[in-house]
Amino acid sequence: MALSIVHDAPLRALNSFGVAAQAERLISLDDEAQLPELHAALADGPAPFVLGGGSNVLFTANVPGTVLRVALRGVRMLGEDGDAVTVEAAAGENWDALVRWSLAQGLCGLENLSMIPGTVGAAPIQNIGAYGVELREVFDSLDAVDLRTGEPARFSAADCAFHYRDSTFKHGDAARWLIVRVRLRLSRTPRLRLSYGELGQRLHEAGIDAPGASDVAAIVRRIRTERLPDPARLGNAGSFFQNPIVPAAFGNGFCAAHPAAPTYPATLGDAPALKLSAAWLIERCGWKGIRDGDAGVDARHALVLVNHGVASGAQLLALATRIRESVHARFGVWLETEPVLVPAR
Ligand code: EPU
Repeated sequence: MALSIVHDAPLRALNSFGVAAQAERLISLDDEAQLPELHAALADGPAPFVLGGGSNVLFTANVPGTVLRVALRGVRMLGEDGDAVTVEAAAGENWDALVRWSLAQGLCGLENLSMIPGTVGAAPIQNIGAYGVELREVFDSLDAVDLRTGEPARFSAADCAFHYRDSTFKHGDAARWLIVRVRLRLSRTPRLRLSYGELGQRLHEAGIDAPGASDVAAIVRRIRTERLPDPARLGNAGSFFQNPIVPAAFGNGFCAAHPAAPTYPATLGDAPALKLSAAWLIERCGWKGIRDGDAGVDARHALVLVNHGVASGAQLLALATRIRESVHARFGVWLETEPVLVPAR
């Protein structure tokens, strides 16, 4: 099958915010056999913007150059080593479908990461995390292709340099790498992680005293459904801001001034630090549930910007800028955007 190449391609159906924008050129990669053709199509041009499920991107204008849509498919078990099972999934697989598949095989490790929108290939880029677990804890390795040379490369967990919502694929000349498949190390025996927030409490309330991984997945699904808007009904990209990590000295002053604020221990480099709740900061500034035209802040979760209809990426970004400025003015903290802004700013 030849590579699909479309000029002036509409992107509205390809991003979970549902904002209208056009790509100068949209290339869809459906099969690894198309990689040489892709390499030729990209030769000498600038690096493309690689699009997975479109659930962590805000198109703020039409996109000059190439958007590369990764639709590579395939999931398999590679091998077992005692209790550990290595699973390999192609970058274009839907993340949550992989979670459900792994649980159906009796494999544990992904249950807390249920229902995160997006693709497998996007998961390592921001080290996806939820309910006390991050991807890095189950990550084995990944295969990528250097788009400049066409050469394959393998990345270990150390190579990926995972941190909170961060990896090497967000820095430097990361745009040269196209992730094609990811390997995860799962286990046959559940090692459940129930320490986050009300997870344990909710299982108890549901009368589940000896939970399995599927029970945890079911509770995570319930919490996410209650708290976070469904992008199929209300355009959004999950958390629009990262939870800020501040130096310990600043954190101590913050806690003294705001004893009710939720905070979590963290590190900055090797130094002790404090992670603050961006949702709490935004809610205290009065933004929760507000709406400006079709751009808004979700009424249930202050960290989620939403598109009520035909908001443009620029309108959503303008709202985000006002939120950042007001949080900075009141709390002295600059929030960082979580989704990628395209075109790059
Ligand atoms: N809170 C508020 N107002 C709100 C929502 C929350 O004050 O409108 C406060 C509450 O006190 C709550 C605390 O913030 O206890 C934390 O809220 P939550 O458990 O929803 O977690 P979060 O820190 O807001 C992070 C991730 C989510 C992930 C949840 C659960 C980031 C940027 N976000 O949100 O990830 O699902 O934890 O683990 O780290 C995403 O990345 O797109 C995403 C949804």
